[in-house]
Amino acid sequence: MLPLRLPLLFLLVSVALCQNDDYDYQPASRHGPSGPNCHQDCDCPYNFPTAMYCDSRKLKFVPVVPTGIKYLYLQNNLIEEIKAGVFDNVTDTLRWLILDNNQITNAKIEKGTIDKLSALEKLYFSNNNLTEPVIPPSKSLDELKIMHNQLSKFPSELLSDKENLTFVNVQYNQLTSDAIVGAFKGPKKMLSLDLSHNKLKKLPAGVPGSLEILYADHNEIESVGAGYLGKLPLLQSLRLSHNKLVDSGIPAGVFNVTSLVELDLSFNQLKSIPEINEHLEQLYLQANEIEKFELTSLCKYVSTTSFSHLKHLRLDGNMVTHSSMPPESSNCLRVASDVIFE
Ligand SMILES: *[C@@H]1O[C@H](CO)[C@@H](O)[C@H](O)[C@H]1NC(C)=O
Ligand SMILES: *[C@@H]1O[C@H](CO)[C@@H](O)[C@H](O)[C@H]1NC(C)=O
Ligand SMILES: *[C@@H]1O[C@H](CO)[C@@H](O)[C@H](O)[C@H]1NC(C)=O
Ligand SMILES: *[C@@H]1O[C@H](CO)[C@@H](O)[C@H](O)[C@H]1NC(C)=O
Repeated sequence: MLPLRLPLLFLLVSVALCQNDDYDYQPASRHGPSGPNCHQDCDCPYNFPTAMYCDSRKLKFVPVVPTGIKYLYLQNNLIEEIKAGVFDNVTDTLRWLILDNNQITNAKIEKGTIDKLSALEKLYFSNNNLTEPVIPPSKSLDELKIMHNQLSKFPSELLSDKENLTFVNVQYNQLTSDAIVGAFKGPKKMLSLDLSHNKLKKLPAGVPGSLEILYADHNEIESVGAGYLGKLPLLQSLRLSHNKLVDSGIPAGVFNVTSLVELDLSFNQLKSIPEINEHLEQLYLQANEIEKFELTSLCKYVSTTSFSHLKHLRLDGNMVTHSSMPPESSNCLRVASDVIFE
């Protein structure tokens, strides 16, 4: 079962890595003649008349969106406000709204704008000045990106009816653990949640059991609750680098779950290698305070059928060296292609 899930993981990871290429959806002829029903400041390509490109042209406001537009690109402008009425002709047809790299604040989003969009699937609102999330009423929302804002709260009921929401990225905000209680429990099909670069003291409670990717790097997390991963039976990748994890915050066996393929615990304060499952393939422990190479954390028993599937193990920036590995390590780590000590 595991190998079947791997391609999805890599797809998800590559989606995450290619965030800056999201706008490559642009048709080749975007500078060709504009379609008939377009705002004068924008382009609506003839061969793709449902898209309106208004990006990168120093706009200070959101133009009135004509009937028929489904994909609206407004990134890289100087927009500070969204006036009531601009979406009135597309409230039940607009699917993509791209607002990245503007200066929009919550106070300047008038009523009768985003709160009327009932068919929106993608909302990209990164690099703006939001202090709280702006969520459309659409039940079809599948992707939400509000990275690099100043979000300091994420109220619990906001996503409760988003049955199809799969990707949520709120990295680089000011979210604390108290501010996100219950925020992500609604969307029952969520696959990926990125909470990196916030102010969390613990992993979020009540996240959907469907999650495959959970990133919480660069927070202030000191511990992981016993059984936390037991509630996420499909989780493949967990990243917790650059937190404040210490041995006493890692209950025995908390990471020993069969679904995990990648576990990043680098840049923490761990003194020992936590127990992992034999299915894990990538383990990042660099820049901790590990003093001892405990093989039993990687393989409790070694036999012909029982061994660690680790391919990559990083231990550089710790107090162990290659000579800390007991001789029987090669039998346990028989598929490891790199074990890095320095
Ligand atoms: C909005 O719809 C109204 C009524 O159908 C129409 O008269 C008007 O021209 C439309 N405006 C735009 C910008 O499409
Ligand atoms: C938005 O935030 C940026 C960076 O913090 C700041 O320079 C800018 O003045 C803010 N704009 C508004 C409209 O608040
Ligand atoms: C959710 O996604 C499914 C499958 O793509 C689709 O059939 C359904 O209509 C969507 N639900 C909403 C509320 O958009
Ligand atoms: C992980 O859990 C399994 C099943 O409970 C157990 O057999 C195995 O010894 C554990 N692995 C480690 C390294 O503790």
